[in-house]
Amino acid sequence: MRMSEDRMVIRGGRVLDPASGLDGVFDLWIRGGRIEKLVSSEPADSQDGAGGIGIPEVTVVEASGCYVMPGLIDLHVHLRDPGLTYKEDIATGGQAAARGGFTTVCCMANTKPVVDNAETVRYVVEKAAGVSPVHVIPVGAVTVGMEGRELTDMAAMKAAGAGAVSEDGKTVMDREVCRLGMERARDLGLVTMAHCEHRGMLAGGVMNEGPVSKRLGLPGFCNGAEDVIAARDILLAEETGARLHLCHCSTAGSVALLQGAKKLGLPVTGEACPHHFTLTEEAVDGADANFKMAPPLRTAEDVAAIRAGLADGTLDCISTDHAPHAAWEKEKGMREAPCGIIGLETAVALTVSELVRPGILTPMQMAEKMSYRPAVILGIGKGRLAAGAAADVTVIDPQAEYEIDKESFASRARNTPFHGRRVHGRVEVTVVDGRIVYEREGRRRG
Ligand code: DOR
Ligand code: ZN
Ligand code: ZN
Repeated sequence: MRMSEDRMVIRGGRVLDPASGLDGVFDLWIRGGRIEKLVSSEPADSQDGAGGIGIPEVTVVEASGCYVMPGLIDLHVHLRDPGLTYKEDIATGGQAAARGGFTTVCCMANTKPVVDNAETVRYVVEKAAGVSPVHVIPVGAVTVGMEGRELTDMAAMKAAGAGAVSEDGKTVMDREVCRLGMERARDLGLVTMAHCEHRGMLAGGVMNEGPVSKRLGLPGFCNGAEDVIAARDILLAEETGARLHLCHCSTAGSVALLQGAKKLGLPVTGEACPHHFTLTEEAVDGADANFKMAPPLRTAEDVAAIRAGLADGTLDCISTDHAPHAAWEKEKGMREAPCGIIGLETAVALTVSELVRPGILTPMQMAEKMSYRPAVILGIGKGRLAAGAAADVTVIDPQAEYEIDKESFASRARNTPFHGRRVHGRVEVTVVDGRIVYEREGRRRG
């Protein structure tokens, strides 16, 4: 691995910096783990000597034709560590993140044990520092054991390195507990990330409720189960002034609620996942549990609302909800298999293919939703490409066309519904703190 003191130049790519609005072809110079400067790109052969390109100790990353974005940040992944490492662990999840172009990921608390105290937060932070190629920020649980009753010691978790709180995987059903949790998070300056699913309205559902679930004879969950909790939590954000982030918005209703909250000036943000803007319930065939996740794949109308919400800024970011499970667990079928699909290594391709190429998002908006906005939501000074910023950078070839191959994944898990899908958009290089942590095999060195 290269030393972070080394110099590197990412040459001739289309640099996209949402924070400043910079969008142009530049050489991005890195030194000592930080961005040193951005200079107008010139043809390679005119630079030897003048700019330092060609000096042996400078690593050259050729990026012509590529997007050069601030390192992607995923607010929502499950790394299954501690305790569920047969599905994934911090090393394999970190490698999957690097391969997917992510330089920072926030990992949810529904591990075994639950990340509900400072000691377990420290375990994640320390293990990540040792084995993960990307930055890992643990998210602490709202309640002890995620049982929905007693609030966690969020101050201690924050001191140990937790970057947010969430009960992701389920909803804190007791309104009063939820309110007190949001107040505690507010007092600590932590955002509360809400998984919105009314437990009483799930009715044993394993997919979206509608004609497809009826045809397949599978129990469904309705949009209302999501919408009612999104509405409740928005009201609690208004009541408490706490910062609220809605996880994996999947319904037209939750997008409308979020839009309403923003119109009122409430401190509420929201994310959408690639599977929710790519697939509808029609993709569910009843046999393959790689189409089972919570919230479920919805209707074309919901997908249209999510796409519109991303385009108009109602939805702030794209997160993966990377949820690894073992093959034998998914083989249990739609009724019995656990919810969730992996997403770290397909998010860039799906975003480029489904949103950028069709003109729903500009490349700049993609950078905003996958890096800058997540950084702002977390309150970390990342997601920028400017002199002095930490050199977390993602290089993406938006033209590359290929078939998603789950066997190529760095993740320990293979539970994706996108195996074999033809896509555009490939991560070429991922740089964390000035070091290359992923480089596509076989790519030409500059
Ligand atoms: O599909 C999901 N999988 N949704 C969740 O909320 C939890 C996640 C998991 O942990 O597997
Ligand atoms: Zn969730
Ligand atoms: Zn999740």
